[in-house]
Amino acid sequence: MEKIYNYIEKHSTHPSEALQWIVRQTHIRTNHARMLSGNIQGQLIRMIVQTTGASRILELGTFTGYSAVCLASGLPENGHLDTLELNDELEDLIMEGLERAGVSGKVTLHIGDCRQTLQKLRSMSGDPVKEEMLYDIVYMDANKREYCEYYDLVFDMVRPGGLILADNVLWDGKVCQDPMPQDKQTLGIARFNDMVSSDPRVESVILPLRDGLNIIRKKR
Ligand SMILES: C[S@@+](CC[C@H](N)C(=O)[O-])C[C@H]1O[C@@H](n2cnc3c(N)ncnc32)[C@H](O)[C@@H]1O
Repeated sequence: MEKIYNYIEKHSTHPSEALQWIVRQTHIRTNHARMLSGNIQGQLIRMIVQTTGASRILELGTFTGYSAVCLASGLPENGHLDTLELNDELEDLIMEGLERAGVSGKVTLHIGDCRQTLQKLRSMSGDPVKEEMLYDIVYMDANKREYCEYYDLVFDMVRPGGLILADNVLWDGKVCQDPMPQDKQTLGIARFNDMVSSDPRVESVILPLRDGLNIIRKKR
């Protein structure tokens, strides 16, 4: 598997200087480098942004800014990313990474619990949400226990035809173990996958990429 992964890395677009800097800093300054989306998923989400022509993106769970840089790099000049992170200790690192990548002008970092930030953004967007405030893409990568809540909160903020990309939906294979582990994260992800696959308002496909990426498209 490692051999195949190395081959894929070698034959895919390589990460920019700024992304390599974020990876190094994440190893030096945090104990959670495994939370990074990584180059292959990073290139994929950047390409999804570019090929769909997305101009408004929402990210839940910035961590050190790796996926934020990938998403923002795919946006047009007038595009915008709102990225939401709980841990205020990461703010300086995130901002420096965005600067180095030359995308800071397209990104707003919101520090705080994303459920509260979402309610705030939602109340600023009108009821129903004004068309120009709808998101083309939501990248969901915060607390796995809260995915169902996030889905309910963001659904009306996504335009018809827009995408919700949910990361880590295979949760290291635990969601299909028999018996399934009963920890809160595994239960949260399993409940989320069931919720999405039985929601008639969307179509979805889980890619077995890294820890599983659910691509969910809101029907028109
Ligand atoms: C898996 S990491 C995100 C990785 C990032 N998307 C990347 O690819 O580099 C999850 C992040 O979500 C944040 N988080 C967890 N619960 C949150 C919440 N309720 N609101 C906002 N952020 C949250 C954590 O602090 C952590 O930084």
